[in-house]
Amino acid sequence: MKRGYGPLLVFAAIGLATGITLSQIACRTPASGPSTAAMNTLATHEGYELFAAHCAPCHGATGGGRGPAAIALSVAPRDFWHERFRYVSTLNGVPTEEDLIQSIRYGRRFGEMPANPQLTDTELRTLARYIREIQRLGWLDVLREEFAGDEDTSPDELEEISHIRVRPREPIHVARPERGFRRDLDTGRELYAANCASCHGLTGRGDALDKPLDEQGKPISVRNLTSGEFRGGAKVEEIFKRIRCGVPGTPMSAAVALTDEEVWQLVYYVRYLAGRT
Ligand code: HEC
Ligand code: HEC
Repeated sequence: MKRGYGPLLVFAAIGLATGITLSQIACRTPASGPSTAAMNTLATHEGYELFAAHCAPCHGATGGGRGPAAIALSVAPRDFWHERFRYVSTLNGVPTEEDLIQSIRYGRRFGEMPANPQLTDTELRTLARYIREIQRLGWLDVLREEFAGDEDTSPDELEEISHIRVRPREPIHVARPERGFRRDLDTGRELYAANCASCHGLTGRGDALDKPLDEQGKPISVRNLTSGEFRGGAKVEEIFKRIRCGVPGTPMSAAVALTDEEVWQLVYYVRYLAGRT
């Protein structure tokens, strides 16, 4: 960290260390479109053309999620300016580059996001960095607005905070259950009733919350776990990540207090609810 940064940056750094996110000091609303400064920065990025060619039909020319094809979809494409990424393998709610590449390469089958087998590894990486840059510029716009007229906070400081905001932590280690682990439906059911049923319902149909909203205040549905449609992936490792890391931007928070063994019991219980063994 450079010298001379004010308390704001220190707060950001502490937030990162403790898992508190900057959302607590800045709430983003889709009403404010990207600034001209942000759009100019984006236009010089090497991912600009690629994005326009492959992603803009759904995610919109500027990445705001309102492309011409979006209305035909049953799931809204992500608004990269204002929404968080949901499929993460870290505990600070920020995806790793690999998380993003996976979403782009394989798509999100039950989320109406197509796979992109035609893109090279380099193109995938460029696109992952491009959409992360959109997120960063989205945060920067908010920070600039919030700290307009604040003489103690320099533009460099705001830039630095925006970088910190989109920096992932180390991904969690998803080790297979230790030897001696026994899948036990009764334990799974108890853990589920205590930690999950308040939203997903005891039967898993996702009907326990009255009018749930996402971070933007838009209606969202709690996933019906009996449908077998896992947008983040049905592999046990993926379900483990959803439970341990949460689904950022939605009411589902990270289950940090559970042990690995408890999370594994829940993974298998969720698979059981979905009729998979
Ligand atoms: C046919 C429409 C469509 C196209 C084309 C499309 N997407 Fe998506 N994308 C979606 C939808 C819908 C979602 C939301 C999926 C969900 O919520 O599960 C999404 C979600 C995503 C996510 C979210 C992952 C997360 O963690 O939240 C990423 C990353 C993404 N798209 C990147 C891209 C990129 C890059 C391209 C261009 C190569 C692209 N998409 C092209 C429809 C599309
Ligand atoms: C506060 C409400 C809430 C609680 C508590 C909660 N969830 Fe969720 N969960 C949600 C919402 C909302 C979604 C859908 C997010 C979305 O639309 O992207 C979700 C999504 C999921 C998914 C992702 C499915 C997919 O499509 O990939 C899994 C798995 C899941 N929850 C399991 C659990 C388990 C297991 C627990 C208990 C440890 C739990 N949830 C606790 C609200 C909750």
